[in-house]
Amino acid sequence: MTDFWRNKRVLVTGGAGFIGSHLVERLIDEGASVTVLDPLFIGLGGKEEHLSHLPKVRWLRFDMAHDSALSQALQGCELVFNLAGNVSHEDSMRMPSFDLAANYSSHLYLLEGIRRWAPQARVVYSSTRQVYGAPQTLPVSETHPLGPMDVNGIHKLACEQLHLLYHRVHEIRSVVLRLTNTFGPRMLIEHGRQGFIGWFLNRALLGEKIELFGGGKQRRDFTYVSDAVDALMLAGAQQNYWGEIFNLGGSVASLRDVAVLLKELAPNSRFVDVDFPEERKKIDVGDYFADSGKIEKALGWKSSVSLREGLSQSLDYFRTNSRLYLGRDL
Ligand SMILES: NC(=O)c1ccc[n+]([C@@H]2O[C@H](COP(=O)([O-])OP(=O)(O)OC[C@H]3O[C@@H](n4cnc5c(N)ncnc54)[C@H](O)[C@@H]3O)[C@@H](O)[C@H]2O)c1
Repeated sequence: MTDFWRNKRVLVTGGAGFIGSHLVERLIDEGASVTVLDPLFIGLGGKEEHLSHLPKVRWLRFDMAHDSALSQALQGCELVFNLAGNVSHEDSMRMPSFDLAANYSSHLYLLEGIRRWAPQARVVYSSTRQVYGAPQTLPVSETHPLGPMDVNGIHKLACEQLHLLYHRVHEIRSVVLRLTNTFGPRMLIEHGRQGFIGWFLNRALLGEKIELFGGGKQRRDFTYVSDAVDALMLAGAQQNYWGEIFNLGGSVASLRDVAVLLKELAPNSRFVDVDFPEERKKIDVGDYFADSGKIEKALGWKSSVSLREGLSQSLDYFRTNSRLYLGRDL
């Protein structure tokens, strides 16, 4: 793949965030010329330090809805990884207008910008398993009925449809990946609103109790961040699948399994069973795991990092960088 990326002019929206910064790092390694659009919205996973070791990156600290920053970012751009967004389902219910801007309307500006200033660019959009809602059958394939259960899922679904519409009507070469629970170094662990795995890592590192809602029986599908980056890179470099949607998967485990693994890997870690809080229960999708056969067959992607290995690498990273993520040395 190396030749494909050498000197490619690539824009990564949300590039200072968790997944975005790993992708940027990989792109730089492969010789791409990378621009990031990311204003570091407060409360999301972006950090200055995620990119400060990469002096070659051109970082425009703007919302992608900012017209002149967007036109600058798209000048000569050959490929856009659109990773900007708000990940928190809970926050989307408390602040739906913010979620609308982060997960829908700013993307409309981006796609209009691409149509105007970079119609030749390829576009890879990071959507979410949340668009399916509570699975009716498992594993969930791309043809499973859609039924998002929260504001975040509705906006992400509308946004992926927008990407596909711009492909059908305006011939923009876009492709959609539906990510599942992605984890690894640099993920947001300061609060629990971006997903339970970051919060479990926080509790394990600080030796605080992990609370398992309803006993933690729900099963989920976990993708280590380097595997997610592999999939994004493959989706950007392919020729034949514009206008398509691909699921990602990884390791299937219950929340309880994750807590047990963390106890093994971080000896101070503890967990307790608690009742499901009412407001969480209403938007919980229950068991989810993906059928990722389509991307395996089409693009040759397969996850390679196990849950145990990924958790171990994450704990090592956060122990070394605890001041940045937890505000104190461990
Ligand atoms: N992390 C996961 O488990 C997961 C699962 C499914 C889908 N996704 C999707 O992957 C993408 C990246 O997630 P992440 O975990 O890296 O999130 P993150 O919070 O770490 O990073 C998101 C970044 O996007 C930036 N951003 C938000 N709105 C923006 C805008 N209008 N213009 C420019 N930048 C903007 C934020 O400042 C932040 O730095 C998101 O689209 C998310 O919906 C993530």
